[in-house]
Amino acid sequence: MRKAIGLAASAAMFLCICTSAAAQPPTKEPWLNPSLSPEARAHAAVAAMTPDEKLRLVFGYSDQAFTDLAKVPDEIVSPDLKAYVVSHQVKGSAGFVPGVPRLGIPDQSQTDASIGVRNSFIPSTALPSSLATAASFDPEVSRAGGAMIGAEARSTGHNTMLSGGVNLAREPRNGRNFEYTGEDPLLAGTMAGALIDGIQSNHIVSTVKHYAVNDQETLRTSLDVTISAEAMRQSDLLAFEFAMEKGKPGSVMCSYNLINGRWGCENDYLLNKVLKHDWGFRGFVMSDWGAVHSTADAANDGLDQFTGFCCVTDKPWFAPIQFKAAMQAGLIPERRLDDMAERVLWALFAKGAVDDPVKPAPIDFAAHARVSQQAAEDSLVLLKNDGNLLPLHGVKSIAIIGGNADKGVLAGGGSSDVTPVGGATMINNRTYLPSPPLQAMKRELPHAQVTFDAGSNPEAAAALAQKSDVAVVFVTQYDSEGYDGILKLEGNQDALVAAVAKANPRTIVVVESGGAIFMPWLSEVAAVLEAFYPGIRGGEAIARILTGKVNPSGHLPISFPASSGQLAHATLSGLGLPDGTPASVTYDEGAAIGYKWYDMKGYRPLFAFGHGLSYTSFALSGLSAQPDGRSIHVSFAIRNVGRRAGKGVAQIYVEPADWTKAGWEAPKRLGAFAKADLKPGQSKTIAVTVDPRLLATYEAAANSWHIRAGDYRLMLGDASDAQMESVSVTLPDAVWSAATAAN
Ligand code: BGC
Repeated sequence: MRKAIGLAASAAMFLCICTSAAAQPPTKEPWLNPSLSPEARAHAAVAAMTPDEKLRLVFGYSDQAFTDLAKVPDEIVSPDLKAYVVSHQVKGSAGFVPGVPRLGIPDQSQTDASIGVRNSFIPSTALPSSLATAASFDPEVSRAGGAMIGAEARSTGHNTMLSGGVNLAREPRNGRNFEYTGEDPLLAGTMAGALIDGIQSNHIVSTVKHYAVNDQETLRTSLDVTISAEAMRQSDLLAFEFAMEKGKPGSVMCSYNLINGRWGCENDYLLNKVLKHDWGFRGFVMSDWGAVHSTADAANDGLDQFTGFCCVTDKPWFAPIQFKAAMQAGLIPERRLDDMAERVLWALFAKGAVDDPVKPAPIDFAAHARVSQQAAEDSLVLLKNDGNLLPLHGVKSIAIIGGNADKGVLAGGGSSDVTPVGGATMINNRTYLPSPPLQAMKRELPHAQVTFDAGSNPEAAAALAQKSDVAVVFVTQYDSEGYDGILKLEGNQDALVAAVAKANPRTIVVVESGGAIFMPWLSEVAAVLEAFYPGIRGGEAIARILTGKVNPSGHLPISFPASSGQLAHATLSGLGLPDGTPASVTYDEGAAIGYKWYDMKGYRPLFAFGHGLSYTSFALSGLSAQPDGRSIHVSFAIRNVGRRAGKGVAQIYVEPADWTKAGWEAPKRLGAFAKADLKPGQSKTIAVTVDPRLLATYEAAANSWHIRAGDYRLMLGDASDAQMESVSVTLPDAVWSAATAAN
């Protein structure tokens, strides 16, 4: 079922890129002195503000293409402010928060999302989906992508990116898994953190989102998630904690759902206790668009910016006038408004958005497309390659079948769906990015006969496959914000693959999907390449991998279930109920997500977390481990023992001698990972450190992490289900505060 999304397409409007409204900023004021700390500057600026100016910073407006501010009574939003919002916002973006020109404080122009600037009127470069980039197992790929999309945000007048999706793929059907970075807290947090770091290197603010446990889209605005504090801290929240440590986002976007009976955006436990107290977060919490349910409770329970739809909805509490009334009634202490404004300003000062204001600039789209292509080439996952059918060589005729491979590559839907440079092909309201694999294959194989069949008739496609040397079938699975998917391919796609494979055993399947899918035809095809949503140069990346110009090096950031019987939840809570219906889900699998769940249950997935093939082979050896305080230092060697250059991914898993006694959620956890680019015969020694939290359990009563004394095995492999070399270490008992800010 389709739910409202934050940004809907609408009638054409003229593009207005308005620079920050720094009318005649004072120059000698302390808050404009870059040599002072962001804290001191924020404090001084707030001290100079009137209450109305502070309130400007904490209420966000959406684009007037989508809402009509003019209809709001003047006593709620003054005519001056209305005029200011309308004339200063970047049209077609997600949101706008007016600055305080009198004091040199810039407006906040907010744009989605993690794969590129999402604006209905501004074309931009689309990265591969965040899940795809997570498959690179290389934070540098994420960082480079972040730096690129952040540069486009800057150049189009946006100083805030609503990026950094890091919700764990707890629910394989979650329609937004493609916007997130997988099922493991370490991998997800590291990759999202690197993206945020790259974005903010442009002196703009990024969020991390959606905080927290917003792990399904069905009834996302009314679903109450029940989960223990222990399970949260060891799973979803740990992913956020890593992402925040590595990316240092200026803002955290709280989520639509309820967690243990409290809305995500008025949740004292999550916002005040965990985020601001335990993790020492100094920036501001912004609401997901319209996820505001009260004035005083939201403010007191930790929300700093009421973002999205100020004043235009039927929520009277979502307006400065109500905020003032609540302060006058003593329901919100004045100090709290100061704190909210200071947090917003802290982020703007700390990330450089005040000292280096955004301004329109030309964009080198060709260079940016190369960044996206590189990300795809580092991320696509070769799942199967029987008889080394790939890379293709000596092929005279090739049948390309299905998936609209003649039109482009699929992108996910919702607020991350960018308007691509070069234009999208819209099919059934779905975006196909302008990088058709068919044309790319023709370019890569100029001497082969490359023929296309749309795949609507499996028999016709099979007939073409039969008379071709090789058949490549493209299958697509569309996912979008606002509703959850199914793991079965839609339409006739399964039948199509089966028919083609029967006609030609040299069949390769290329999957463009938001996340995991079932593959009932897997044993019948020779090769499978998982391309996820591969971005604006996805077709080129696919063709270069199939033809061997690029050696694939992605590894799965999620497990692929073999059947629905393996899912932790047989059905999605609330599926089919109208929007807004109260519903609940209990995550009784706790922190046992993905491969942890499979290990615990003894299930064999279709493809395991961490799996990914290469056209060369890597040998992992020489594992050694040395405890150091609460961490473990690990070193090993990786050697390219094949005949092609390639990038190998090594994964370190940790396993207590007895995982139940150690209090773990599952037998093993990913403790570290690394990627190495190696020529044939070349070897590298790699050193990594296992973070203590990945060895510990969280104890809610004492708010502490606890490593139980005992033996722990460190295992080295290239997938979570691989044969692994191992060594053991003995760890002493260790307990420390989970308030990392205090450690
Ligand atoms: C989405 C957010 C997005 C916001 C603004 C919401 O519907 O959940 O991820 O940033 O809209 O477009």
